[in-house]
Amino acid sequence: MKKIICLSLFLVAAINFSVAQSLQSPNGELQMNFSLEEEGTPVYKLSFKGNEVIKTSKLGLELKEEEDLLSNFSVEGTEESSFDNTWTPVWGESKEIRNNYNELEVNLVQEETGRNLIIRFRLFNEGLGFRYEFPEQKDLVYFVIEEERTQFAMTGDHTAFWIPGDYDSQEYDYTESKLSEIREKFDSAVQPNASQEQFSKTGVQTSLMMKTEDGLYINLHEAALVEYSLMNLNLDDENMIFESWLTPDAVGNKGYLQTPAVSPWRTIMVSDDARDILVSNMNLNLNEPNKLEDTSWIKPVKYMGVWWEMITGKSSWAYTDELASVKLGETDYSKTKPNGKHAANTEHVKEYIDFAAEHGFDAVLVEGWNEGWEDWFGQSKDYVFDFVTPYPDFDVEEIHEYAQSKGVKMIMHHETSGAIRNYERHLDTAYQFMNKYDYPAVKSGYVGDIIPRGEHHYGQWAINHYLYAVKKAADYKVMVNAHEAVRPTGLRRTYPNLIGNESARGTEFQAFGGSKPNHVTILPFTRLIGGPMDYTPGIFEMDISKLNPDNDSHVNSTIANQLALYVTMYSPLQMAADLPENYMKFPDAFQFIKDVALDWDKSIYLEAEPGDYITVARKEKGSSNWFVGNVNGNEARTSMIQFDFLEKEKNYIATVYSDAPDAHYKTNPQAYEIKKYRVNSKSELSQKSVPGGGYAISIMEADKSETKDLKKL
Ligand code: NOJ
Ligand code: CA
Repeated sequence: MKKIICLSLFLVAAINFSVAQSLQSPNGELQMNFSLEEEGTPVYKLSFKGNEVIKTSKLGLELKEEEDLLSNFSVEGTEESSFDNTWTPVWGESKEIRNNYNELEVNLVQEETGRNLIIRFRLFNEGLGFRYEFPEQKDLVYFVIEEERTQFAMTGDHTAFWIPGDYDSQEYDYTESKLSEIREKFDSAVQPNASQEQFSKTGVQTSLMMKTEDGLYINLHEAALVEYSLMNLNLDDENMIFESWLTPDAVGNKGYLQTPAVSPWRTIMVSDDARDILVSNMNLNLNEPNKLEDTSWIKPVKYMGVWWEMITGKSSWAYTDELASVKLGETDYSKTKPNGKHAANTEHVKEYIDFAAEHGFDAVLVEGWNEGWEDWFGQSKDYVFDFVTPYPDFDVEEIHEYAQSKGVKMIMHHETSGAIRNYERHLDTAYQFMNKYDYPAVKSGYVGDIIPRGEHHYGQWAINHYLYAVKKAADYKVMVNAHEAVRPTGLRRTYPNLIGNESARGTEFQAFGGSKPNHVTILPFTRLIGGPMDYTPGIFEMDISKLNPDNDSHVNSTIANQLALYVTMYSPLQMAADLPENYMKFPDAFQFIKDVALDWDKSIYLEAEPGDYITVARKEKGSSNWFVGNVNGNEARTSMIQFDFLEKEKNYIATVYSDAPDAHYKTNPQAYEIKKYRVNSKSELSQKSVPGGGYAISIMEADKSETKDLKKL
């Protein structure tokens, strides 16, 4: 670790006196200016290559029942330092991550109250992070946040890729519009969800991706959300100023802090090349280093699941249709008639285990295995599941032994229905049960309104729970993939057993009416900035009525696009979400899912434009294999890529899985082609992708003799 104090303490007498201080990124392209306005209000602004990106924006917090931390400040001192080190993630998009920034610490004192507030800025080559720090002090011990008043003042009416600001749901399709159009488009951007609450017609969520008329890409998000409420953004659309809008608790308060405390980092990424946003590790770098001593049990997982058949309505989570309601421990399931559609039964699970073993998958997820699914949400029911009592037709012991004999792990499912207190009540026994039956990972879920009533999915209380569940899981050597939990903010650096989150509109919505065909060209610029997503790709049958005649949903994607997602949607946890029978209809395309790696030495973003396309090449960890993925938006496009990322002088076989020329996400989604070529570092590919399409390439090192009959690219 290298920390150089390069500027001496800058002491200023405690008078209300405006101080300007500037900070440059290591490459000098970004400049941040801090100053105090006349009223002693802290402000900052940011420029990129000499052009303003964030106009003068106010900083501070409004407190409840005591003097705000907004103005009347003077600068007591500032300190500048630089940091440059490289660290090794347990898993990730690259083997090593460089953390390089210049830092400015501004020490503020409030005139009348004498209270002390620090604002810490870190300027990286790709953006700015800053946070509030509340040192331990006699006059500020416990305090309640009325609202955080951090501003992000835009320089114009940028194009934004946004979803409605909400205290409970992120499961929205993105809208692309000018900032000035958010208000008029807001209502049509809201899609129904089991739990949701918007707060303003100009409220949006982070990570918010924008593009200026001059071709600058700006991304607003937060890092290291711990012991604090999640930040949404509210736009003052007359002045184009975003302001932080925290998630309230059941009585309307937005945060309870005890000094010493820090806020999460507020982040602004900026570049004139969209690829820089995708490749950036700034969010991770703003999180604390790994706190888990032993990480040997944390492993990337490729899995299948007894899942899509329930999502599509072909099968059910519930065991019986006879019960009006369930009282756990009192309901006697042996006296009820099974509904004949319960997928989580021993025989069926064994079929999945067989298929997973045969095709080299690590694990099988089973949902609907435990009692309680007959009335699991919508009732504000507290004692909803106990996470350890299987249905009569699910033999835990037998399944455990069978899976073990086949070399396949089982993935646990804990749907909490948002009854968080109930989950915490059962957490130890639930994890112990997992240890006993050798489940290395849990998929948890928080569907429906949070209980205790009035709390929100993204309020401080629930935020604390999600991390509590992850930390406790680490004590039991359990990996966590939480659905409907708060969107990630890089905490996986600190707790690498947090291997996945949903926290966005995943593939399930393709069976609930469909998502926009370009959705997956936006997610890496928004939701994935904070961490990987359990997107659950790999759907080959796009006509959902073939699985369930009562469901006329259509998956808005081609098969080639589905394959590409394993590369473009970075995650150490990847599912092959479709049914085994659908994979067996296209075994040659399924081969890509079997081959694709989960953990990487290197990731190189070849092409990227939010809403339009993303092409990335990744080198498998510890191997010479590469995988390339291209996802394409609403218009057909020809992608031009160079293979100069390959090692020179080496010879490879590239298998290209692409859209057939007449493929289309809506009318012809299953039409694909597979071509094999001989490639080396001088090869180039010009490849067409259709609307909602894409391509996937596996590139394996090969002897000259193996490639002599192949066409050279
Ligand atoms: C919503 C989750 O996203 C989905 O994956 C899960 O199957 C259901 N909840 C039931 O828990
Ligand atoms: Ca969900």
